[in-house]
Amino acid sequence: MEDSKRIYIFIRITVQPTPIDDVYEETSFEPGRHTGCMSWTAAAIPEQTGRTIVVTGANSGIGLEATRELARNGAAVIMACRSVDRGESAAGNVLADVPDATLCVEHCDLASLDSVRAFAERLRDEPIDVLINNAGTMAIPRRETDDGFETQFGVNHLGHFALTGLLLDNLRADRETDGESAIARDARIVTVSSGLHERGAIDFEDLHGDRSYDKWDAYAQSKLANVLFAYELERRLRTAGDPITSIAVHPGYADTQLQFRGIDGRGSQVRLAMRKLANTLLAQSAPQGALPTLYAATAAAAESGAYYGPGGPMNMRGSPERQASSDRSYDVETARRLWDRSVELTGTEYDLPTPTPAVDVEY
Ligand SMILES: NC(=O)c1ccc[n+]([C@@H]2O[C@H](COP(=O)([O-])OP(=O)(O)OC[C@H]3O[C@@H](n4cnc5c(N)ncnc54)[C@H](OP(=O)(O)O)[C@@H]3O)[C@@H](O)[C@H]2O)c1
Repeated sequence: MEDSKRIYIFIRITVQPTPIDDVYEETSFEPGRHTGCMSWTAAAIPEQTGRTIVVTGANSGIGLEATRELARNGAAVIMACRSVDRGESAAGNVLADVPDATLCVEHCDLASLDSVRAFAERLRDEPIDVLINNAGTMAIPRRETDDGFETQFGVNHLGHFALTGLLLDNLRADRETDGESAIARDARIVTVSSGLHERGAIDFEDLHGDRSYDKWDAYAQSKLANVLFAYELERRLRTAGDPITSIAVHPGYADTQLQFRGIDGRGSQVRLAMRKLANTLLAQSAPQGALPTLYAATAAAAESGAYYGPGGPMNMRGSPERQASSDRSYDVETARRLWDRSVELTGTEYDLPTPTPAVDVEY
């Protein structure tokens, strides 16, 4: 990445820790209350020059389209990909569109904690403004990551849990400035979930599907974990008085490679044809699917602790709006328990306080 092209300017913000009771009282959302983003498009992305944004799974689908729009608006994008070849090919695709894009392809395989740690280590001295936890895999036959986690839970949730903890200091880091002008430090963590999180439950007795495995239940569990994580992270950041924001999003139904990943074995040609047909008839485009992510990553009005998704029919397409996630996703006891298990499984400690009291949040 060409460091010379980037100008980092910021002001230091001092925030007092939030009284713990307020962390719960303020975490409320009235379903149906819109926040004025109903007609938001990528054309509304504010200037991103001087900002560095990490996108996991940046070589395909939503991650690729988010990278394109962020780069178009001046952000330096670190494309965290499990295949550097696919990452470089995707970077070429973006550069064909945005010739002055500042892109850096880095290896990061979320199915390997060693790879996640090595990636974070390479970024050690790099201030980061936004981390987009986007990479994901859906409805695949049961497999295990390098660390023995069921792959969907391991990649979609645990890999991102470890990555976020390891990059927290990068999101807090001060920058060298020229002392002339200043933009506010506006660090954000965006975690991409799915509408299918609503079908999910966290099976603490069988997190990795050792006893019984259903590929859709495993996906739904991992996507519920994404929302629980985003909310719990937000509560912990707020308790600490840390100004980093944590936002959950879902893309609705977007035409990407996601739907084709788990198809193999007998009858696969028929299933492939049916999914292609469904994508053609029902899905929105990948650029449209990237809008909730882009809104959460860049819009001034995006709120920490919120959940954004497409506001059109069945929340499968359309412009981003604030939405309510499932009842289970607001359960703070589940969120706390998941957090503790994730620390245990990944060995990643966060220097953030545990919010108390653990009471259910009304929304
Ligand atoms: N498309 C939809 O309708 C939809 C709906 C709901 C939620 N989502 C969510 O949106 C996110 C993006 O999905 P997409 O639709 O853009 O799908 P996609 O086109 O399949 O892209 C998924 C990305 O994740 C990467 N990835 C998979 N396993 C990884 C690993 N072990 N380490 C690092 N990266 C890995 C893929 O890399 P490779 O190319 O190397 O495999 C790819 O870059 C996912 O979290 C998904 O759950 C999508």
